[in-house]
Amino acid sequence: MNTKIYTITDTVKQKNEIEEIASLIKSGEAVAIPTETVYGIAADCFNEDACSKIFEAKGRPSDNPLIVHIAKTEELYTLVKEVPQKALELAEKYWPGPLTIILPKREEVPDKVSGGLSTVAVRMPSHPVARAVIEAAGVPLAAPSANISGFPSPTSPSYVIDDMYGRLPAIVDGGECDFGIESTVVTLATDIPELLRPGAVTYEQLKEVLGEVKLHSAILNPLEEGVTATSPGMKYKHYSPDAKLLILNGTKEEFIRFIENNPHFADHALCFEGEENDIPLPSVTFGKEDDPFSQAKRLFDAFRELDTNGAKKVLVRSPSREGVGLGVCNRLYRAAGFNFLSPYQGIVIGLTGESGSGKSTVCERLRKNGFIIIDADKAARSITEKGSPVLERLASAFGNDIIKSDGELDRRLLASRAFRDYKSKRLLDSITHPEIISICEKTAKEQTEKGKNVIIDAPLLFTSGLWQICHKTVKVYAPEEIRLERILLRDNITKEEALLRFSKQTEEEKAARSADVIINNYPPYDLDTEIKKII
Ligand code: TXA
Ligand code: MG
Repeated sequence: MNTKIYTITDTVKQKNEIEEIASLIKSGEAVAIPTETVYGIAADCFNEDACSKIFEAKGRPSDNPLIVHIAKTEELYTLVKEVPQKALELAEKYWPGPLTIILPKREEVPDKVSGGLSTVAVRMPSHPVARAVIEAAGVPLAAPSANISGFPSPTSPSYVIDDMYGRLPAIVDGGECDFGIESTVVTLATDIPELLRPGAVTYEQLKEVLGEVKLHSAILNPLEEGVTATSPGMKYKHYSPDAKLLILNGTKEEFIRFIENNPHFADHALCFEGEENDIPLPSVTFGKEDDPFSQAKRLFDAFRELDTNGAKKVLVRSPSREGVGLGVCNRLYRAAGFNFLSPYQGIVIGLTGESGSGKSTVCERLRKNGFIIIDADKAARSITEKGSPVLERLASAFGNDIIKSDGELDRRLLASRAFRDYKSKRLLDSITHPEIISICEKTAKEQTEKGKNVIIDAPLLFTSGLWQICHKTVKVYAPEEIRLERILLRDNITKEEALLRFSKQTEEEKAARSADVIINNYPPYDLDTEIKKII
């Protein structure tokens, strides 16, 4: 399809072009137009075929309804069954402007527009070009944001061109949008009005007119399973860049410290203006920290900029939720899939050490100092519990008889087969190690998110691959004669058995050379002093 671009800077002087755009709409076409919030794709709201073209151009799911745009309050009466006093008061105060009101619809409004709902969303934009086009078309215009479904809403003409060139017969360039996030959506179709999407008209401003207003839970939280989406748009992952976003709640100093402590965690930062030079990562900014309007205006641009820069994992400075900030947070949190980080995130330390080195004693003392201990041997046993998928895979690799008649694993039989040669050992490891790592990682993450520091107690920290999920690795060292002395006392085995056990640990020993070492030897070494190094 050929796309004609109209650049409109003066709606009076360019009346002929406005008429041309309006006649395209009257003939049943969909056209991209600017509004004060974001660009929209507009079509005659009473023409179902024209509205279908909007869904086609966007690739939008058909159950997600459109907002109808009007130029005069009178037009509201052609769309909704009844206009309650509260709606008139809102219109009086905030129209034209970035506020959408939902009311029960008249039959004439096609299902295509309402997404099959009995209500319709209406707003009167303030952008002079949008108003001129609606007036010239002589009908209310259904218009969703002018992005391909799932992409950030376009706030500048070049982004509309990126997404829609060749998909629509016309794109109207009216410059940058003033607000940059979509309108506030409030429903008056419920007993108590409810805010469904926060925007430039704030929650507080709505309450001043309406009294009690509910705040939909999906504004700051993921839509829970089983909860109906009052606004179908809540179900879809909107406003999202390609890069994975992680939001860090904290001050600028905490943000910087987090990056310094975790230098490989993210490849880009999204921060406030003026901070970019202090942050030790390539940074994109979105407005000033104390000015949510400036954040709203920049947010979607910033998302697109991150993608252009090839960002893969982005650490984001969280803005305040006050006033217009609620709208900014809503878009940001959703784009990040509600992934939050604390600057006080704990760290994961992998602890290894040969038999008799005193690793357990070290763990016990660290536990008393608030560390969470994950026992890798226990995790290893848990993955082969009765009925587990790992158990089944082991049985098909090493013979069904390794599962006893009671369904439990015959560890002795498995060991005799798995340890008979190098290849069998490798097969065993390839089945069990990824599972052990995944369990330990999940548990560690739960704890570090709560700010806890975690020790992974793993005699095979390096040979199992567990070291990969640790921020640091530490080896407890004791000379062989001390270890021998200890395990002869403790484990009731012969010297020969003890030495055999040591010889089996050489592979781990070699691999553990990269770990930090704490020494558990006779005085002048002191274990408490050594442990303090970890703490
Ligand atoms: O600022 C804006 O509102 C922009 C510009 C172009 O006006 N438009 C916009 O439209 O953001 P759209 O389609 O991207 O978002 C409309 C949102 C969707 O989340 C939709 O589910 C919701 O409003 N919505 C529309 N009609 C509704 C209804 N009857 N009941 C509940 N939610 C509705
Ligand atoms: Mg949209």
